Amino acid sequence: MGVLPFSHRCKNLRRIAEDDGGSGSREMIGAVQLGLLAACVVLFVPLVMAGWHLSRNKILFFSGALFITLAVGVHLMPYLSPPEDLIPRKIAAPFPDSSCIRSLHRVEFADAWRRDECSEIRCTKKSWNWIDSDDEVLRCEFQKLTKSDASDLLNGSWIVLAGDSQARLVALSLLNLVLGSNQVEAIREDLFKRHSDYSIMANEIGLKLDFIWAPYAANLSDYTSKLNHQDVNSSPDVIAMGAGLWDMLHINNATEYAISLKLLRDSLISLSTSRSLHHLFWIGMPKLINAKLTTPEKKRMMTAGMWDLYQNQVAGTKILKQSGGPLLNLDIHLLSSLCGEDGTVDGIHYDDSVYDAAVHVMMNALLIQSNQKPRRRSR
Ligand SMILES: *[C@@H]1O[C@H](CO)[C@@H](O)[C@H](O)[C@H]1NC(C)=O
Ligand SMILES: *[C@@H]1O[C@H](CO)[C@@H](O)[C@H](O)[C@H]1NC(C)=O
Ligand SMILES: *[C@@H]1O[C@H](CO)[C@@H](O)[C@H](O)[C@H]1NC(C)=O
Repeated sequence: MGVLPFSHRCKNLRRIAEDDGGSGSREMIGAVQLGLLAACVVLFVPLVMAGWHLSRNKILFFSGALFITLAVGVHLMPYLSPPEDLIPRKIAAPFPDSSCIRSLHRVEFADAWRRDECSEIRCTKKSWNWIDSDDEVLRCEFQKLTKSDASDLLNGSWIVLAGDSQARLVALSLLNLVLGSNQVEAIREDLFKRHSDYSIMANEIGLKLDFIWAPYAANLSDYTSKLNHQDVNSSPDVIAMGAGLWDMLHINNATEYAISLKLLRDSLISLSTSRSLHHLFWIGMPKLINAKLTTPEKKRMMTAGMWDLYQNQVAGTKILKQSGGPLLNLDIHLLSSLCGEDGTVDGIHYDDSVYDAAVHVMMNALLIQSNQKPRRRSR
């Protein structure tokens, strides 16, 4: 197959959800047809034989033999399909398989800063990319989606980002990708109003994005259980959420954090089964640079040891996919470590490149989860 432009191949998330239901029922109809055909053979072949003036006993014998042959055949069929390597590869595996999910974070950041297309506020960015020499990266063909690729993928979708300022920065990067930096500068002030929700409808691509200010894990579980009580037909297509830093700084009780995460996990599991919602992401906590934290209280509470303690609750409550939970981890800690200490001024919020990388990891995960192959990267 030739390399079509992405837009010709890419189906957006909404369409995929519809197609999934369709293909299941088509398979069902196929099985019913096969059964009817077998029934007809058993019924009519002996009747035709009766036309040849065979005795009743012979007809009974033939129809019995036919019935047994067909029954045995139907049961053996699954085992008789040709071995996999006889099937040409390009039919067998047209999509990057789900094992690619675990390699999504194999990225690297450049040491140098470069000037970016920018406003006066932020004129530099680090550059990052997937590690070119990595075999898994080559096999999985990860790529940064362009504005139009992302618009195609997200056309008609409702995306929710919920959490603290880390989630807000991910929302900013996502909007930058789908709207372009000029349009985002215009809405930046609204998005960054302290401690409030934000909602935008990007009409050209029918994308609805909600940012929900939910700094504590308890706020996330409240929000999710609220979604659970809403109409089954109105539910987001993608949810990315994360909290932990505020719990660490202001509540300072890891047990309570774990209790909230358990509630969140249960609530998410029921949400994802009742709405067949599969695109759920966790926005992890960044690496904290203690020496750069801006208040004495932060320096005292937000230590590396405390980070470990809170991260252990995330692991222990099995909320992440890697431990059997519902959320795919966007590993902000890893990305911020790779970006380096010079990527943060206040020890918590990092350079945009960290959140850009997280967004592209999420986009590639969405492609994999919806069985789509990105356009081949030109090298
Ligand atoms: C989004 O989808 C609608 C209809 O499904 C289509 O008319 C529109 O052109 C699409 N927009 C983009 C940017 O792909
Ligand atoms: C978040 O949770 C805290 C503590 O439970 C609560 O005081 C606060 O009102 C909640 N905030 C929002 C925005 O729901
Ligand atoms: C932490 O929270 C748990 C559960 O609410 C409570 O039992 C415990 O006493 C709290 N610990 C501290 C030190 O406040």
